[in-house]
Amino acid sequence: MKIIMLGAPGAGKGTQAIRIAERYRIPHVSTGDIFRSNIKGGTELGKKAKDYIDKGQLVPDELTIGMLLDRISQPDCEGGYVLDGFPRTIPQAESLKEALEKRGERIDLALDIEVPDSHIVRRMGGRRACPKCGATYHLEFAPPEKEGLCDRCGSELITRSDDKAETVQGRLDVYHRQTYPLISYYREEGILREIDGTKTPDEVFSALEALLSEV
Ligand code: AP5
Ligand code: MG
Ligand code: ZN
Repeated sequence: MKIIMLGAPGAGKGTQAIRIAERYRIPHVSTGDIFRSNIKGGTELGKKAKDYIDKGQLVPDELTIGMLLDRISQPDCEGGYVLDGFPRTIPQAESLKEALEKRGERIDLALDIEVPDSHIVRRMGGRRACPKCGATYHLEFAPPEKEGLCDRCGSELITRSDDKAETVQGRLDVYHRQTYPLISYYREEGILREIDGTKTPDEVFSALEALLSEV
């Protein structure tokens, strides 16, 4: 099963992608997480990506596409994967499609988690993230069992550098300008499914499971 998660920053892509990955035993591939681990590790890629991410802009396609295609050609992705944060531009979607076609493969579903902008700012303000396994929490809506520590791996939770209020609005603008056109793109491909992302994480996951069981 090859799945794409679409939706604005803070819509809950990561929250749900982790659950889907566990449920279907496929890797969760988050371009945001890959960039953040490169930044933490001080790699060349991380150095190039850092400024864009901190400002809430997209990392250029030249850096992003190759990195993602590399990742999904690893052996653990043979049985499928859930892509979280990729594609984010039409050229990214086209490159992915071309690369898959060469191997006689295709994406099965593009899941769009719909959350109005008015909800997003509050979600970002209270988000805490695990720098090790990528799990996300919310001080109010999804607190960890032990304050400040990841339920899944015990690491200390952090506030992401791009979750500052002034950056969040910029990320939403970038989303509407550059990523939103992908909704029509995948609708035309016939694989788009839309989910109400304003419900609780459990309710959103149930809705996703129902859609995935039809594939
Ligand atoms: P990325 O890491 O992908 O960030 P994003 O798209 O901005 O999305 P977020 O991770 O902020 O939100 P999410 O939808 O995963 O929500 P979450 O589940 O955490 O990308 C970061 C940056 O990297 C980009 O800005 C860009 O610079 C670069 N980048 C990455 N991919 C790229 C690409 N392909 N091309 C170019 N550049 C790229 O949930 C948010 C909060 O809400 C959490 O606190 C969570 O607990 C809470 N929450 C979740 N669901 C619910 C719910 N149902 N009810 C209440 N609260 C909820
Ligand atoms: Mg995320
Ligand atoms: Zn963790």
